[in-house]
Amino acid sequence: MEKDVQLDLNRIPRHVAIIMDGNGRWAKQRGLERSLGHQVGAETVHQITEEAVRLGIEYLTLYTFSTENWNRPEQEVTALMGLLFQHIEEETFMKNNVSFKVIGDIGKLPDFVKGKLMNCMEHTSKNTGMSLVLALSYSSKWELTEATRQIAAEVKAGKLELSDIDSDTIQQHLATRDMPDVDLLIRTGGEQRLSNYLLWQCAYAELYFCDTYWPDFKEPELRKAIADYQNRERRYGLTSEQVNELEIKS
Ligand code: IPE
Ligand code: IPE
Ligand code: MG
Repeated sequence: MEKDVQLDLNRIPRHVAIIMDGNGRWAKQRGLERSLGHQVGAETVHQITEEAVRLGIEYLTLYTFSTENWNRPEQEVTALMGLLFQHIEEETFMKNNVSFKVIGDIGKLPDFVKGKLMNCMEHTSKNTGMSLVLALSYSSKWELTEATRQIAAEVKAGKLELSDIDSDTIQQHLATRDMPDVDLLIRTGGEQRLSNYLLWQCAYAELYFCDTYWPDFKEPELRKAIADYQNRERRYGLTSEQVNELEIKS
């Protein structure tokens, strides 16, 4: 077995976002139905969430169902909604002091799912540990369109001056308004694309792509991604020398 990596616990990314991809191919490879891949994938969500809590990640944002995923076969969408309902475990969140949130166009979700999500968000809202955020019926283009509409409405109502609009205004109108930008974006399943996920929030994220299908992405894989992140230099447009100088001062 591969030796586990050493992590610097003082430099854990605050916000990790994951595009959990590859459930269907994982199942196909085994001659199983796609929905079985989703089932095992849901188990992985629990394991990765608990590992993220142990590592001290503050925000874990999981791409669970995209705006575009509504176009999948009806049977698959129904199976995914059922799984979602089944796997929202309030007790586990309470045990881990996790506050649970959802971002996305949740009005589109079936009522039984929506009801459970809302209850769970409410009951865990006072928890002070990690924020677990599911992106559901979410896409960046949807989010940015909504933000634009709200900003335009405020300008029209005279509550906001056109000249006062800056990048903070936009940030404050996103579904992630209470969260820091993404530090590390992980995509499993081999594709190297963002698929309409957190485009604004990933402006300076470190990107990590791996071939492992989501159902096989276990705790050591998460630690490997974080170790990779810790080996990178985040320059934010500066030179390496400037970054080093800033690090010495801080
Ligand atoms: C990710 O796995 C889960 C969702 C998008 C809901 P996929 O279902 O996309 O799996 P692949 O990409 O077909 O293997
Ligand atoms: C992205 O995966 C969405 C989620 C993981 C929820 P997809 O499988 O839908 O992405 P594409 O279609 O391959 O880009
Ligand atoms: Mg996919």
